[in-house]
Amino acid sequence: MTLNSGIYMKNILISGVAGFIGSHTAEKLLQMGYRIIGIDNLNDYYDVKLKKSNLDNLRENNQFKFIKIDITDFKSLNILLNETSFDYIIHLAAQAGVRYSNAKPLLYQRVNIEGTLNLLEIARLSSCKTFIFGSSSSVYGNQEIFPILETANTTKPISVYAATKQAGESLCHSYSHLYGIDINTLRFFTVYGPRGRPDMSPYIFTKSIIDKKPIKIFESISGTIKRDFTYISDAVAGIISALHFNHGFNAFNISSGIQISLMDFISQLEVELGEKANIERHSEVPGDVRITYADISKARSKLGFNPRMDLNQGIKGYIDWYKSYYL
Ligand SMILES: NC(=O)c1ccc[n+]([C@@H]2O[C@H](COP(=O)([O-])OP(=O)(O)OC[C@H]3O[C@@H](n4cnc5c(N)ncnc54)[C@H](O)[C@@H]3O)[C@@H](O)[C@H]2O)c1
Repeated sequence: MTLNSGIYMKNILISGVAGFIGSHTAEKLLQMGYRIIGIDNLNDYYDVKLKKSNLDNLRENNQFKFIKIDITDFKSLNILLNETSFDYIIHLAAQAGVRYSNAKPLLYQRVNIEGTLNLLEIARLSSCKTFIFGSSSSVYGNQEIFPILETANTTKPISVYAATKQAGESLCHSYSHLYGIDINTLRFFTVYGPRGRPDMSPYIFTKSIIDKKPIKIFESISGTIKRDFTYISDAVAGIISALHFNHGFNAFNISSGIQISLMDFISQLEVELGEKANIERHSEVPGDVRITYADISKARSKLGFNPRMDLNQGIKGYIDWYKSYYL
């Protein structure tokens, strides 16, 4: 903890702070009066300008400190720990992206498994109260029963990314069991909104409609792709509510709890942009999950999680930001 004008402020370590979810989480927690130590390696998986602009916004608050660290570098993490203690750790740094993971499996193993283990070691050594792990709906693979409960089988991931997230969750479970750390693993479902990742469908679809280029939809004749889209402010609310849930290891679905077909999502983008999309159908891509649709009753009852954003307003929020940032 830090003494600031006579008030003890809680220190929170956020990994992946320059990213989409990390930067929004830091922004909200700074507004709430926490002190944030943010780490990120600022890699170029997507345009670094967006990450730097996220950091510039955060730096306006003097309770924010950024340190460029790669989470696979335990030595640097340990030096940071020697300088500061952490009350909470929110671990969001990851090599994201399902399709890219099948092309670069070793990178995903290093960042998502080894990197997560390093952060868990820091949690153990710093005696932090709660550790939040940014997991993913992809751990469920292709399920048959919807909406998906947290108790559904997660032993059949269908991409390397999903397998590394599942491994991260398993490590979290061991650390909670061995060292009594309260760990909440949050399974995010397609998070979108301002500052959203340029490798994800909301950005790709929006850009294609504006540039009058075809939108490629990869779905089999038998199955329409459906997603449980989650607006960023709801995802952040889920993270913050989980900070104070201290009951050993727990997994929570964090989503809107509503399934939308990709075609309906695109239709709403068309309305907001006032332009028609040009759809090109392709066959299914191995590794892509057909349907994601969560049961969020556990997060509702245990965390008081209550997603508020409806799709129309959410898409409007995203498009307003997209136009102000890119156009
Ligand atoms: N956005 C979604 O829809 C979604 C869905 C499911 C799970 N998640 C998970 O939520 C977390 C945040 O996702 P996001 O969408 O904000 O992704 P993001 O890529 O915008 O943010 C991740 C950040 O981690 C950083 N990072 C990557 N490798 C690192 C390393 N070796 N050392 C330090 N920093 C590193 C990146 O530079 C990036 O800024 C990730 O763990 C992701 O897997 C996101």
